[in-house]
Amino acid sequence: MKKVTKAVFPVGGMGTRFLPATKSIPKELLPIIDKPLIQYAVEEAIEAGIETLIFITSASKHAISDHFDPMPDLRAKFLSQKKYDLVEKLDTLPLEVKRVFIPQGQPLGLGHAVLQAESMIEDDEMFAVILADDFIQADINPLRRLIDIAEVNGRATISVEAVEESRISSYGVIAPGHWQDDFAAIDEIVEKPEVALAPSNFGVIGRYVLPQSVFAVLSQTQMDDNQEIQLTDALKQLININGLQAVKLAGQRFDCGSQEGFVLANLHVAMQDKKLNTQIKAYLSDC
Ligand code: UTP
Repeated sequence: MKKVTKAVFPVGGMGTRFLPATKSIPKELLPIIDKPLIQYAVEEAIEAGIETLIFITSASKHAISDHFDPMPDLRAKFLSQKKYDLVEKLDTLPLEVKRVFIPQGQPLGLGHAVLQAESMIEDDEMFAVILADDFIQADINPLRRLIDIAEVNGRATISVEAVEESRISSYGVIAPGHWQDDFAAIDEIVEKPEVALAPSNFGVIGRYVLPQSVFAVLSQTQMDDNQEIQLTDALKQLININGLQAVKLAGQRFDCGSQEGFVLANLHVAMQDKKLNTQIKAYLSDC
């Protein structure tokens, strides 16, 4: 089986929970302190061995492409001033990494966004999907762990996390078979179930490794009541086609698509910085 070397980044959502910030910039460019969410996601992908980045973008927003463009003039200036730390911050993408931008056209859901990558993936190839607004801090690269499991048997492999009861109805929730260590085959997947009907407390989060066959399934998947094609609906079909398996996330995740998750992610990273940590503690003690 071919190695997984391509990752799809769906960044075409409307980000309504972050309006008006997301009027002109995709939410994936919102920063955790000084680094945009998409930069963290791309770094995770490259560390996991990804060589080609495929961004599914909203047609009107070019800022992600701009973010990864080289800035030769400013770079030369910082170099001449020996400001090497700034040079490093400008180098947002290694030159050898390929990037492709595909407009989604209309925001018709995550499944529709993933479907736009079809022409980039070969018949016998698996590929990764990363949702940058799921911000993850982990010792073990979460995508690499998924790839390692997926490359063994070529089955679609997705990341899951135990979620609080009060949040369960916001997630795709799996019915896992027998856990072996951190992974299990998935028997069933239910989109946004009521707590009483949830088959487990394991919710699907934004890291996936999928086979090329998902495109045929996605192209047959009906729109839901919100006129969106859901990736979860296609994953359900994959269970019967060549199987679907889950890997438990080992790390801390923040849902930066929500205001609460975004603020907590910023706090989490800020508290790791000695100076910010002291300032935040001093501020909070006065609140
Ligand atoms: P969300 O479900 O968070 O939707 O998308 P959203 O539109 O981005 O945000 P809200 O709910 O309006 O605030 C999950 C991921 O799927 C991408 C988003 O960019 C995000 O990474 N997505 C969603 C697309 O690329 N296209 C879509 O049509 C929908």
